[in-house]
Amino acid sequence: MPDTLALWHAEHANFARLLDLLDDQLALFCGGATPDYELMLNIMFYMTRYSDVLHHPKEDLVFAKIKEREHATARTVDELTRQHALLKRSGADLVRHLDDILNGTVSSRAVVEAIAGDYLDTLRNHMRIEESEILPLAARLLTREDWTAIHRSIGHVDDPLFGKHPEPRYVELVEQITRQAQATHPDH
Ligand SMILES: [Fe+2]
Ligand SMILES: [Fe+2]
Repeated sequence: MPDTLALWHAEHANFARLLDLLDDQLALFCGGATPDYELMLNIMFYMTRYSDVLHHPKEDLVFAKIKEREHATARTVDELTRQHALLKRSGADLVRHLDDILNGTVSSRAVVEAIAGDYLDTLRNHMRIEESEILPLAARLLTREDWTAIHRSIGHVDDPLFGKHPEPRYVELVEQITRQAQATHPDH
């Protein structure tokens, strides 16, 4: 099902853009400047409510099929599944810290730096393995019936940030992403 794989890949590209924006803000924060905490929080809000709730659970079902059909993938698949749980926990932690900062509660800079840095490293590396190893395996091993069953059990939700109708809380983030894309590809 090429559409499914293309959409899967497109979501990774979207997440990568968000991670780059988060990384830019984190660099300001680590340098002692004041980053755009609201932007950081909106990015993490999306990651914990879209990626952790829809993207990763769908992947878990794909992983299970891959492992069932090709046992040699077990080690990689199990590690990626473990990372989904880890990312969900650290993403939620980061949301809590950013929310505290925005609400004027003191949060340890060192703790925020460590959580955000680990989150970026883990998710970037995670997506790299999915792109290089898992997507090709899924293309080879999953049948049309497998995909139908997976889509039925996860259901469809419009992407609240990159979809046709972004939610109000993401409007500013959408503008920022567009500006960044124009700066990177000025001829588009
Ligand atoms: Fe994943
Ligand atoms: Fe993924």
